[in-house]
Amino acid sequence: MADMDGFKEAAAYGFDQPQKNNSFFLKGNENRGWGIQNRLSRIFNPKTGNTVMLACDHGFIMGPTSGLERVDLSINPLIEYADCLMCTRGILRSVIPPSMSKPVCLRSDGGTTILTELNLNRVYDVEDVIRMNVSAMAVMVSCGDKASEQITTHNLVHTVDMGEKYGIPVLGVTAVGKDMARDARYFRLATRVCAENGAHFVKTYFTDEGFETVVAQCPVPIVIAGGKKLPENEALDLAYRAMQAGAAGVDMGRNVFQSEKPLAMMKAIYAIVHENMNSKDAFEFYNDFKA
Ligand code: R5P
Repeated sequence: MADMDGFKEAAAYGFDQPQKNNSFFLKGNENRGWGIQNRLSRIFNPKTGNTVMLACDHGFIMGPTSGLERVDLSINPLIEYADCLMCTRGILRSVIPPSMSKPVCLRSDGGTTILTELNLNRVYDVEDVIRMNVSAMAVMVSCGDKASEQITTHNLVHTVDMGEKYGIPVLGVTAVGKDMARDARYFRLATRVCAENGAHFVKTYFTDEGFETVVAQCPVPIVIAGGKKLPENEALDLAYRAMQAGAAGVDMGRNVFQSEKPLAMMKAIYAIVHENMNSKDAFEFYNDFKA
């Protein structure tokens, strides 16, 4: 029994202040469980509502793509400047220091590669995901692709079931079917399918036209992938325009780790996402950055 010497009677009941109900800051995630909201709050900054995710999961379909030959050399020094790291379990276990404190969004499906038919994937065992203490599971969904639409949608459904059971949010990743146009009409459908099947947030691509309609109709936050490597000013402009259209952040890979100055890109993107810097200033910041 605790020592009762000097015991003080409880008195601070705060009668003048009703207990606050905590409303949750992320779109469409108000009614989730505590574990899911807590993990989402590690990925998205509660002050800005946004996130800078650093994606380096490309190897599971592409092998050692440029910039990811040695993840320990290229990605590890950048992790502290991201809000969240997105990678596969192989890279996490073999290269990422377990002492790092950033949340991980784990690529949680795998299967076919660029050498055959993409997206015929199966998902990781959730017990293995739990062992890695991750903050979210990312699963690809390829709407409109005859060969893989059904299996990838089932993968998402199953992963959301597991995520809800164990309090782990799910990122639905829109993979564009081979014959699909990469336009707002397609991404409205693809992001909505992810959200309707229970994804807690969705990753998609920016579109020059109508991206605000993609964001508006998706009931959960959207983060954008960077896509193929662009000149730095264009990549920063893409991030800025996506944020202006209502995105809640980025999950970028090649436009960071294939840049001439990856750390400067990380910091410029961070300024756009969290400090509302415009793309012109962000590009100047990138150019001036010495490292
Ligand atoms: C795609 O499925 C992968 O998840 C990549 O992580 C994603 O495309 C983001 O990387 P990038 O900005 O290079 O497109």
